[in-house]
Amino acid sequence: MKIFLIGMMGTGKSYWKQLLAKQCKTGGYDLDFIIEAQEERTIPEIFQEDGEIYFRKAEAKLLRWFGEKKAFVLATGGGTPCFHQNMEWMNQQGITIWIDEPLNVLVERLSEEKAHRPLLAGVDDEGLRTFLSQKLEERKPFYSKATHHLQGDQINLKYLKKIISQHA
Ligand code: S3P
Repeated sequence: MKIFLIGMMGTGKSYWKQLLAKQCKTGGYDLDFIIEAQEERTIPEIFQEDGEIYFRKAEAKLLRWFGEKKAFVLATGGGTPCFHQNMEWMNQQGITIWIDEPLNVLVERLSEEKAHRPLLAGVDDEGLRTFLSQKLEERKPFYSKATHHLQGDQINLKYLKKIISQHA
């Protein structure tokens, strides 16, 4: 089965990908890491040197590479579902799980990590909440197309397994 984890940055997609892949005895991947390996530079460097449009094209292209694979858990980037028909493509390929966290949680987690997130470069602490709130609203129409929508406090491995078993 192909499982795509989607949601805002800071929702723990990579964490859940790792646990779920282990539990399902399948490959776990992180789209951001694959892009960085392919490009031989970090995501902030890609944004800085070539801009977001370039990044989104590279992201969409590498995502399509998963069309060849049969089973995996993939942690996507926060913006992945919102560009190049990626959400529709993922839904055709397998199941999409939206991991959703309240704004407070995102603000708290991301205020420590701004350096690794090019979209947050130049956003000060006061601006972070507004920025994330706007981004989330902008992205909800895409995230809402997910097969499953889970709130952060609902998620545990047992629940994830139950959801997935519905598709077996
Ligand atoms: C982005 C989120 C990042 C990464 C890039 C853009 C976004 O991934 O793809 O910095 O647009 O929200 P994470 O969600 O893994 O942080």
